[in-house]
Amino acid sequence: MNHLSHSIALVTGTTSGLGYAAARLLAAAKGYREVIITGRSLARVQETAAELTAETKAQVFTPLELDLDSPFSVQSALAELVKRGVPIDFLLLNAGMVGGKKRVLTAEGIEAAQAPLIGHHRLTIGLLRANLLSPNARVVIAGAEPARGDVPMFSYTDVAALADKQYHGDRSAAVEALVRNGPNVKYQPNRAYADAKLIVAWWAAALARRLPSGMAVYAVSPGSAPDTKAVRNLGPIMKSLMIPLTKLIPGMSQTPEIAAHRYLQASEFGTDVSGQFFASAPKKLTGPIESMRHPHLHDRVNQEAAWKAVVKVSGADLLPASSSAVP
Ligand SMILES: NC(=O)c1ccc[n+]([C@@H]2O[C@H](COP(=O)([O-])OP(=O)(O)OC[C@H]3O[C@@H](n4cnc5c(N)ncnc54)[C@H](OP(=O)(O)O)[C@@H]3O)[C@@H](O)[C@H]2O)c1
Repeated sequence: MNHLSHSIALVTGTTSGLGYAAARLLAAAKGYREVIITGRSLARVQETAAELTAETKAQVFTPLELDLDSPFSVQSALAELVKRGVPIDFLLLNAGMVGGKKRVLTAEGIEAAQAPLIGHHRLTIGLLRANLLSPNARVVIAGAEPARGDVPMFSYTDVAALADKQYHGDRSAAVEALVRNGPNVKYQPNRAYADAKLIVAWWAAALARRLPSGMAVYAVSPGSAPDTKAVRNLGPIMKSLMIPLTKLIPGMSQTPEIAAHRYLQASEFGTDVSGQFFASAPKKLTGPIESMRHPHLHDRVNQEAAWKAVVKVSGADLLPASSSAVP
């Protein structure tokens, strides 16, 4: 893509961490003409816009209120974008969180680590339906290495086994149970996070099959970057001991800028790799990104089950309800 063809970006979750770093890079290093930045409250994201403007000296940041836990907030943000009527070239779905010891559900009954995907799905579908993604748009959604199953202390749920045991083999019902963290699912924060990011990777693969031909979507892990607020819900031992220790081990952490740069790198990938999940090399948490080849990430039945579950939970679909054609 040439420079002018990707001049408007929208980044979610910019009030801290990697979203903030990505917004800054898009303006300062990539010269984006406009960067729409979102945060749960307008006041907070207005402050973020002022900080970013002061840091970059670029008058390109447009604050937008977006709480992904609230369907009303997503609809209001979409209405605002429709009113502007300007298509987005790079949609960076960065917002996400690791849950704490205690399970948190949104007002709609969605587990907190899963909720950003449901909000991101509603936003993406709304933009596509309103023709507000440009013909060569790139969509990047934040994934994470735990989706691979090779990160110590994080394991994901075997959806096929859960479906066979509890849902008569219905994998979409099993994914929905993970998204809602019940019934038949025991809450464990690391597992909930690994499951959320695995469903993100499947969702990206399924969305890629539905996008118009010039557009592309990728799930991208920024990699380990402990100097963000992602650790806010971790217990005191993890926060005061494990995270500082992690930072001392070579290859275990990178700066937010390096991590955020991965998103920008992926925004320039071609349509030939649309739907793929890019992350650190297997068993690594930093370094160059590559396409992940783990068979469970490429299980088309699970990808489609994830899409179906997300459509059901969110109530948002690209196709009219009567049509289920997937290319
Ligand atoms: N840092 C890492 O090591 C790492 C590694 C792999 C993947 N990731 C992924 O990278 C992304 C960014 O994380 P980060 O490290 O930058 O963490 P962070 O500093 O906590 O930033 C997360 C951002 O997302 C927003 N957010 C979270 N849930 C939201 C919701 N439901 N609605 C609206 N906004 C929401 C937060 O806003 P509030 O402050 O208002 O909650 C915040 O602006 C996440 O998807 C994370 O899973 C991070």
